Amino acid sequence: MARHFLALHDFNEIELYGMLTFARELKEKQKQSIPHKLLDGKTVALIFEKASTRTRVSFEVGVFQLGGHGLFMSSGNSQMGRGEPIKDTARVMARYCDGVMIRTFGQEIVEEFARYSDVPVINGLTDLFHPCQIMADLMTVIEHKKSYEGLKFAWVGDGNNMANTWIEAAAIFGFELRLACPAGYEPDKKVMEWAEAKAPGKIILSTDPKSAVAGADVVNTDVWASMGQETEQKEREKAFVGYCLDDNLLALAKPDCIVLHCLPAHRGEEISDSVIEGKSSVVWDEAENRLHIQKAIMATLIK
Ligand code: CP
Ligand code: NVA
Repeated sequence: MARHFLALHDFNEIELYGMLTFARELKEKQKQSIPHKLLDGKTVALIFEKASTRTRVSFEVGVFQLGGHGLFMSSGNSQMGRGEPIKDTARVMARYCDGVMIRTFGQEIVEEFARYSDVPVINGLTDLFHPCQIMADLMTVIEHKKSYEGLKFAWVGDGNNMANTWIEAAAIFGFELRLACPAGYEPDKKVMEWAEAKAPGKIILSTDPKSAVAGADVVNTDVWASMGQETEQKEREKAFVGYCLDDNLLALAKPDCIVLHCLPAHRGEEISDSVIEGKSSVVWDEAENRLHIQKAIMATLIK
């Protein structure tokens, strides 16, 4: 049975930490030009039902560096876009490919895909979760802060796929996460309940960006309107007033804090230009680490 990477809760802390360590080893090998053709001759399908820059490029380059082939597919140019059932696509893809990455809308789509797939399926972002991104983020935190243990994490903004995945990460890894989300834009209720049961008291949700950021070691934000929510942009701009991660808000965090943003960023909305370009920002390392962690995830799962 293939093992899939659909959400962080599919794995325990030891397994996820193992992938983070493996990613650092692969990063080092890549930097030193030491071959690591762990997917030699393998093909990984990369299916996109939403736009992407980082995910597409990092997966495609990552598979290549591992000696395999990344096969880009978009729903618009495949039969998926014409309504071919997910379960049919999944079974056919598994006859050709050794693994599948899929970026789509509902989490139930990746779950159905995985149910019918004999090869590992990796979630490249859904409306609910973005697990590859949070793994890259954790790798970046470890690089800059040595460890995540004892650190205070802050989330400012929408209770979206990124926030939900951070909540899972906090519960699994056991760090403190304070989220500030406007009323009506809270994280997924079931994810919150799962996390609260797993790690009572570690996840604190409020509507106050200042209390979330105060004393934080890691400050994280994301766009106010995610992919698929473009028509809500104007309404969200009103609801998110006061949620811009700017110099004043960041001044409340620890002086040596780091700032994460999965990108793409909307400067002047969820983050100011001065913060994303400032000394605390590690967003370029974070983007780079997508490559290394995804290589580790693929090489761990794809046999
Ligand atoms: N962070 C992220 O997933 O970026 P893309 O949408 O460009 O893939
Ligand atoms: N929350 C954003 C993340 C983009 C990488 C979205 O889903 O559009």
